[in-house]
Amino acid sequence: MLRISQVTRRFGAKVAVDAVTLEIPEGQMVGIIGRSGAGKSTLLRMINRLTDPSAGSISFSEVEVSALKGRALRGWQRDCAMIFQQFNLVPRLDVITNVMLGRLNQRSTLTTMLNLFPREDILKAIEILERLGISEHGPKRAEALSGGQQQRVGIARALMQDPRIILADEPIASLDPMNAQVVMDTLRRIHDEDGRLVICNLHTLDTARRYCDRVIGMRAGRIVFDGRADELTTPVARDIYGADADFSEEATSTSLETLSRPRSVIAAEAALAV
Ligand SMILES: Nc1ncnc2c1ncn2[C@@H]1O[C@H](COP(=O)(O)OP(=O)(O)OP(=O)(O)O)[C@@H](O)[C@H]1O
Ligand SMILES: [Mg+2]
Repeated sequence: MLRISQVTRRFGAKVAVDAVTLEIPEGQMVGIIGRSGAGKSTLLRMINRLTDPSAGSISFSEVEVSALKGRALRGWQRDCAMIFQQFNLVPRLDVITNVMLGRLNQRSTLTTMLNLFPREDILKAIEILERLGISEHGPKRAEALSGGQQQRVGIARALMQDPRIILADEPIASLDPMNAQVVMDTLRRIHDEDGRLVICNLHTLDTARRYCDRVIGMRAGRIVFDGRADELTTPVARDIYGADADFSEEATSTSLETLSRPRSVIAAEAALAV
């Protein structure tokens, strides 16, 4: 169980996250939604301690995460992998090395810099790339891949850490609908097959509804909704987004129409367009 208790984060006078309390059992797939500036990234970053809370406590199965230091903190950051909107790969390095960088916390920096990866790491990276359907790209430079492929490399790098929690901050915000679907399918699969807790910040309602068991709505640093995806009705969404009369679902949509079409059709269209 991940317990977030009365967690606040201030930046000067700005309260980015305001006394948030949440309990998330392991094995849920959770989406966090809310308009820009609502505090979604700050909350996620506090869970993995990239940002420290100004007040409150975060714990995970009896470990007081907010108090960890040094080696124990690095251990936590390994258990709690982060996936970013901009992938954060090393563009000029090949894919397989990028994936192996997920081991950075566990290996000495010198060994890593000298590219001396143990054979078991290489095999594990290949196995993960195969699982995510991108092993043929292993020898290519990361920059040669499409956005969707790069994000799957980001997920592979996260899996290399064998994390208990995957935190994804807008993992599909830079992707077209087809790639967005592949990436979300991948995250859902990891959740279903490995039982890892996945927490995803998402810009779009339809994605949260479609992929997450539980959706948390944030507004101005506070939680204003916490429920099942099917409870996320249009009036509830309007409240979360603090939207005025011209609120429309389309403004927060990834294009449901495209997402719900068979993948084979989309792939065929993409092939014809080349
Ligand atoms: N390092 C920082 N220094 C100062 N203010 C910050 C910092 N990080 C976040 N903030 C402020 O805290 C508030 C919440 O930001 P946060 O990035 O968590 O929002 P968000 O919900 O992730 O938004 P978006 O959807 O645009 O990513 C914003 O007002 C932001 O300007
Ligand atoms: Mg953000």
